[in-house]
Amino acid sequence: MSTLFHHADAAETMARSSDTISLPAPRQDSGVSLERALRERRSVREFRAATLTQDEMSQLLWAAQGITSRDGLRTAPSAGALYPLVVYLLAGTVQGLEPGIYKYVPAGHKLMRTIAGDQRHPLAAAALGQDSVAEAGAVLVFTAVEQRTTRKYGERGVRYIHIETGHASQNVFLQATALGLATVVVGAFDDDAVAALLKLPVGEVPLYLMPLGRP
Ligand SMILES: Cc1cc2nc3c(=O)[nH]c(=O)nc-3n(C[C@H](O)[C@H](O)[C@H](O)COP(=O)(O)O)c2cc1C
Repeated sequence: MSTLFHHADAAETMARSSDTISLPAPRQDSGVSLERALRERRSVREFRAATLTQDEMSQLLWAAQGITSRDGLRTAPSAGALYPLVVYLLAGTVQGLEPGIYKYVPAGHKLMRTIAGDQRHPLAAAALGQDSVAEAGAVLVFTAVEQRTTRKYGERGVRYIHIETGHASQNVFLQATALGLATVVVGAFDDDAVAALLKLPVGEVPLYLMPLGRP
């Protein structure tokens, strides 16, 4: 799949320095109304074998956790503005992006590669063999560093984190719909297997997967 990387054309604005990748700027407006996205949102579990674009990935990651204010507030609300969520992009067939796992860094709207190679089948195995995960062009993985919220709110912080995951994933769902992409939210997976695959540090837990593709 490295050919995809080499074929990245000049129109693709990704700047690379080692394993850090600057994403193209997300668009701030579109001709798709919120009402239409709400009406058309539907879980889709089968995808065409088609490449996704960097612009699409940029837009979805921005919808998930993009920064939308000078003081660092984001597209999704967060209890105490503590932002425990982390979003990973597991790239399979994304134009100009080598297959691998990338961590989204909201500050600077960039990606940092954490693991090389196509990890869709191992992730699908960890998700009880769900074909939607294996056949997606990319999968967003939501995790949380629980302590960021529990150190202020105690055990109730865990509830807040789960609520925040709903906010962020719904943002992605509606954005995907507005882009004409297909997705589904996946909560059925083996936590330990996903944590091991992503090499998550102790205290960071996987919460939700969103396979993405073209309908
Ligand atoms: C918390 C949660 C976990 C879910 N887990 C899965 C899953 O593991 N696999 C799957 O295919 N769909 C999963 N779904 C999607 C639901 O099946 C789907 O939302 C439901 O059938 C309603 O369909 P709709 O989303 O098209 O309105 C999950 C939904 C939620 C809210």
